[in-house]
Amino acid sequence: LKDSAKDSILNANTLQEIDEIRVKYLGKKGELTEISKSMRNLSPEERPVLGALINEAREVISELLENRLAEVKAIVKAEQLATETIDITLPGRKIEMGGIHPITETTNFLKGIFVDMGFDVAEGPEIELTSINFDALNIPESHPSRDLQDTFYMSENVVLRTHTSPVQVRYMSKNKPPFRMVCPGKVYRNDYDISHTPMFHQMEGLMVGENISFANLKAILTEFVTKVFGKTNVRFRPHFFPFTEPSAEMDVECVICKGKGCRLCKDSGWLEIMGCGMVDPEVLKAVGYDPEEVTGFAFGMGIERITMLRHGIDDLRAFFENDIRFLKQFK
Ligand code: PHE
Repeated sequence: LKDSAKDSILNANTLQEIDEIRVKYLGKKGELTEISKSMRNLSPEERPVLGALINEAREVISELLENRLAEVKAIVKAEQLATETIDITLPGRKIEMGGIHPITETTNFLKGIFVDMGFDVAEGPEIELTSINFDALNIPESHPSRDLQDTFYMSENVVLRTHTSPVQVRYMSKNKPPFRMVCPGKVYRNDYDISHTPMFHQMEGLMVGENISFANLKAILTEFVTKVFGKTNVRFRPHFFPFTEPSAEMDVECVICKGKGCRLCKDSGWLEIMGCGMVDPEVLKAVGYDPEEVTGFAFGMGIERITMLRHGIDDLRAFFENDIRFLKQFK
C-alpha cells in the first residue's frame, strides 16, 4: 500500500491530483481507514502490531503528500512567472488632455477685462420668463423678436432666453445702485447658417448710478475694445433697442484689413461688435428705480463673433461641431 501510494504521489502533477490521492488513502473512507476498521477481526495480540503499521503508513504517506504538494506548488508558480510576465519597460497609455474651448477662453478673457475695471460678474437662468426676457425690457407684445419663428417657447410664459439682457433686470431687482456688472452666458434663437447657431453666447454689461452718461459708455467700451484688439478706431452708429435710449451699435475698424476693405468686413472696413445704449427709463421703472435719480448704460456683445475675429475663424458652426482637429488648435 505504501509503495502504490508513493508511486501515485510522485506522479501527481496538479494540486487536484494530490488532493485526490490524500482522500483515497487518508480520507474518512480512505484505504487506511478501511484497514483500521478490519482490526476488530484480529486477536488482541495482533491489533497493536497492525495499529503500529497503519500509523507508520499514515505518517509516511502524509509526509510524501506534503513534500509533493510543495514541489507542485513551486512548479505551478514557476509556470505562472514564466507565462504571466508583465513587460514593465512598455510605455504607459497616454491620457489625452482636453483643452479650453475657444468660446470659454474668450469669455474668460473678456470677463477679465471688465473685472479689472471693477465690474461684478453675474449669471441668470437660460430658461426665462417672458415677463423678464421681454416685458421688463420694454419689448412690446408686437415686437418681431417675440415671434414663434425666432424664439424657442417652453410654454406661453416661458422661453429659452433670447439674449442676456434679462439678467440686467434680475440684477437690478436684487442690487442697489451704484454698480457695474457683466453677465456672460448662453442664449437661444431659432436660426441656423454660416453665422447663426440656435445656441450662442453673449456678454451683457450694465452700469447704473448717479450721473452715468453716454460719455462713460464710450470711455469704458473704447477701453475694452483696445484691450481686446489693440489700438483700433471705433465708431458708434445710432441704432434702436427697446430697452435703451439712445441706442447705438459699436463698430471697430476691421482687424484683418485695417479698414481697407476685405471679405470679413464686407469691404466696409468696419465690424459691428456690440449693441449698447443708455438704459431706457421704462426699464429702470420696471425694477423700481427712479430715472430722475439714477441713470445707466448697457451693452451686449456676441462672444462667438469676437472669438472669430480673434482667431480668424470664418464659420461659426465649427465651434459646436466638436471636431477634434478644430479644437486641438486652441490647446
Ligand atoms: N440684447 C441686445 C441683443 O441681443 C444687445 C444689447 C444689450 C443692446 C444691451 C443694448 C444694450 O441684440
